[in-house]
Amino acid sequence: MKVLVTGGCGYIGSHTIVDLINNGFDVVSVDSNIRSSTQLLEGVEKITGKKVRNYKVDLCNLEDTHAVFHENRDIVGVIHFAALKTVPESVAEPLLYFHNNLTSLTNVLKCVKEFNIPNLVFSSSCSVYGNTTALPVVEETPLGEAQSPYARTKQMGEQIIEDYSRVNSTQSILLRYFNPVGAHPSALIGELPLGKPDNLVPVITQTAIGKIPKLTVFGHNYDTRDGSCIRDYIYVMDIANAHTRALQYLIDKKNTTNCEVFNLGTGNGVTVLEAIKAFEKISGVKLNYELGPDRPGDVIAIYANNTKAKSKLGWEPKTGIEDMMRTAWQWEVALRDRVLNN
Ligand code: NAD
Ligand code: WQD
Repeated sequence: MKVLVTGGCGYIGSHTIVDLINNGFDVVSVDSNIRSSTQLLEGVEKITGKKVRNYKVDLCNLEDTHAVFHENRDIVGVIHFAALKTVPESVAEPLLYFHNNLTSLTNVLKCVKEFNIPNLVFSSSCSVYGNTTALPVVEETPLGEAQSPYARTKQMGEQIIEDYSRVNSTQSILLRYFNPVGAHPSALIGELPLGKPDNLVPVITQTAIGKIPKLTVFGHNYDTRDGSCIRDYIYVMDIANAHTRALQYLIDKKNTTNCEVFNLGTGNGVTVLEAIKAFEKISGVKLNYELGPDRPGDVIAIYANNTKAKSKLGWEPKTGIEDMMRTAWQWEVALRDRVLNN
């Protein structure tokens, strides 16, 4: 069975392709490489022994997107990862985000409709919940005000797919990821932030390796157990496996409605200081960090209730924060060694 993965050259897309191939799927990727290169697909090939074709196509171009679907009309489904995802950039460039993330989605849906593709899985985000205080977050928790144009593209993306699914036969799943981190245990693929990273785990590993001089903990007087923010860090290979399960669930026609939503988190909240301690423990590196001011717009605490994904998809996040940090660190070290050896 063949699957079309959009954004397959990116962080979560590449890890998901590994899991799909390990579970017997054939995969083709569409990625314009606007935020990536083919480096991770080369890693996928080394891990799986399978070459994955990437169509270097901008999904905002309907004609080119149509051509890819035409050539791959035998696919059982689409997993749509392709999007821009940097929150501060979306604040500075809202039109870029609305254009890219929503035009690409509607173009994919137009092709899904025309070629009668039965199944669709969409990358959503816990950012759709906004600044919620009802914890842990369940799928029915009302969506709060989006805190950024990026988050708004995810809310709108979900609504577009819900409206589409109401009147078309495609079966869809919206997966709301919490904070995906870590790398494949082979250290052949991992997160490749462009420029200076914003997310905590790449900031930790890049500080430890010396690319960033010092990490600032954003906020230490919050009403949490140690004063720093709480997040639900979820291992990228666990996230990847949820996609394979979501697709299989649709193929097996186990869904009860045309569009279902699932939270993908561990259910455990971890503070920034606990994440740093976990990293220091597994790496043996003393991290250079300071306690700094709050980051504007930060949610104080958010973590998932993941009961629905566990019970309906049979999914089980298996990886704890230390192993997530270990793989992230091995990946950072592998990146450095590759540079040194070249
Ligand atoms: P990523 O940037 O590593 O991968 C996204 C890929 O999509 C990139 O390779 C990029 O080149 C491609 N792309 C973007 N716009 C495109 C277009 N118009 N046409 C073709 N390709 C295009 O990001 P990721 O972390 O792998 O995220 C994947 C998805 O998961 C995104 O939709 C993101 O919003 C969502 N998500 C990510 C996180 C996270 O923390 N990483 C959390 C929640 C949701
Ligand atoms: C985690 C915690 C920071 C960096 C973002 C997006 C969200 C989703 C996931 C896509 C926070 C703290 C961070 C640093 C720090 N992405 N931190 N020092 O903000 O939960 O979510 O990524 O959908 O939409 O908003 O993730 O990794 O940036 O931050 O103290 O240098 O680490 O304050 O508490 P966040 P993050």
